Amino acid sequence: MATDLVKVEHISKAFSGVTALDDARFDLRPGEVHALLGENGAGKSTLMKIISGVYRRDSGDFYVNGEKIPGDLTPQSAQNLGIGIIHQELNLCPHLTVAENIFLNREFTVSGFLNEKKQNEAVKQYLKTLNLNIDPATPVRNLPVSKQQMVEICKTLSMNARIIIMDEPTSALTEKEIDDLFKVIAMLKAEGHGIIYISHRLEELSRIVDRVTILRDGKYVKTLNFAETNLPEIISLMVGRALTEKFPRIEVERGEKVLEVKNLSSLHGVGVKKVSFNLYKGEILAFAGLMGAGRSEVVRAISGADRMSEGEIRINGKLAKIHAPREAIVQGLFCAPEDRKRDGLCVKMTLAENITLPSLDIVSKLGVILRKLESKKSKEMVQSLKIKTPSVDQYVRNLSGGNQQKVVVGKWLMRNARIVIFDEPTRGIDVASKIEIYNIINDLKKNGIGVMFVSSELPEVLGMSDRIMVMCNGRITAELITKNTNQEEILKYATQYS
Ligand SMILES: Nc1ncnc2c1ncn2[C@@H]1O[C@H](COP(=O)(O)OP(=O)(O)OP(=O)(O)O)[C@@H](O)[C@H]1O
Ligand SMILES: [Mg+2]
Repeated sequence: MATDLVKVEHISKAFSGVTALDDARFDLRPGEVHALLGENGAGKSTLMKIISGVYRRDSGDFYVNGEKIPGDLTPQSAQNLGIGIIHQELNLCPHLTVAENIFLNREFTVSGFLNEKKQNEAVKQYLKTLNLNIDPATPVRNLPVSKQQMVEICKTLSMNARIIIMDEPTSALTEKEIDDLFKVIAMLKAEGHGIIYISHRLEELSRIVDRVTILRDGKYVKTLNFAETNLPEIISLMVGRALTEKFPRIEVERGEKVLEVKNLSSLHGVGVKKVSFNLYKGEILAFAGLMGAGRSEVVRAISGADRMSEGEIRINGKLAKIHAPREAIVQGLFCAPEDRKRDGLCVKMTLAENITLPSLDIVSKLGVILRKLESKKSKEMVQSLKIKTPSVDQYVRNLSGGNQQKVVVGKWLMRNARIVIFDEPTRGIDVASKIEIYNIINDLKKNGIGVMFVSSELPEVLGMSDRIMVMCNGRITAELITKNTNQEEILKYATQYS
């Protein structure tokens, strides 16, 4: 049998006394896709950061191509050994161009001078492999999240790594981009590369995966050949119990109109053209459509993050003038945004500070923050959302990706909201925590709050909403009653360009 590209055994790692990995192991063979699975906070990213030299292991053995690596790796030495990683959270420099990001610190130079033309040509080649139609000279901050993710993937591919770690690469991609990525993965596999694949979108595993390894609470659980297992078995190994009821739908009688949007247009992003809809108390309204349909732009315009160019918004029948998110908040409209790192969280602040940030009036007195109260309120939220953290004083950047998402949700739940809007609420969230988020959404619904959510996952749209607005190309193409519709009908309207 061929030598393993990578093998790690007995890996342990603690962060200031909190165990992230405890005797974990993993191995990767040439020409395989090996998925690493586990709940939020199970230690997947930590193990991958150890393999790619970002973190040092506390203990354990490390082999690359059968040879023992005695000391610690650094990102540079890992790269020299052919290990490349696509990180879960985007790591690009927003103000630099696509090409500059891809070749950061490895610039094409001729006698010390940057050869921009040659660099752009090289980048174009990589973009082409991924079927990406973007100009290498575009600043990354002008690209939507999904394209940024593709640039991140391009960057790793351009390093010619033999061992490629993909930490949730598809969480922000469109269906088409996922197809393109999977083609590239098949190609890399055929060339003998090994791919370590992390994802919470378990449904997609069957398209690419050869083996799976499951971690739970930092411990190794099991490695299985994908062909010899099934999703229910994988899920029960991940969560330690069988999960029932994926979408805990509840029936609530819908109340009065709480939000009325009329002829809303916006020139931001892909644009929004004359969008009108109503939202009622105790109702869950989903916005479905393909990535780039304008759903996030609607959310951004309503919540004051973008300026609307035309239209009218009424909350409880009263004309609402919203020019900034704080004005929306004052009127009881809250939004949990799509890009949590950019819009939703201050990663350099603690969990408690983040959760209470929109609620400073509740946790302060005469302009002074009452730290004890802040801590008490945050602890309640950590408990009710089951956020996995050693304490509320933990910096948000040290939380696992899925737990960061829960903090975003927790922020808005602190307030007494009338309308809560979620943009891709369960992106990067594990199966069990997804159900927790659905329960939160249901709790809001039960309390007479109007809930609106944008989601690219049709099973979630169909499983949780009462009504669906389908968008395509900045317009609403259909309004559907969830119980009378299906996936095919939604997709038909989602692709109705005209
Ligand atoms: N730099 C750090 N400092 C302190 N604690 C950390 C740090 N990085 C990770 N942790 C903790 O280690 C544990 C494992 O986190 P990790 O990010 O590896 O989880 P994960 O399996 O990748 O989860 P997710 O699916 O949510 O991305 C978590 O409890 C997390 O809070
Ligand atoms: Mg992770």
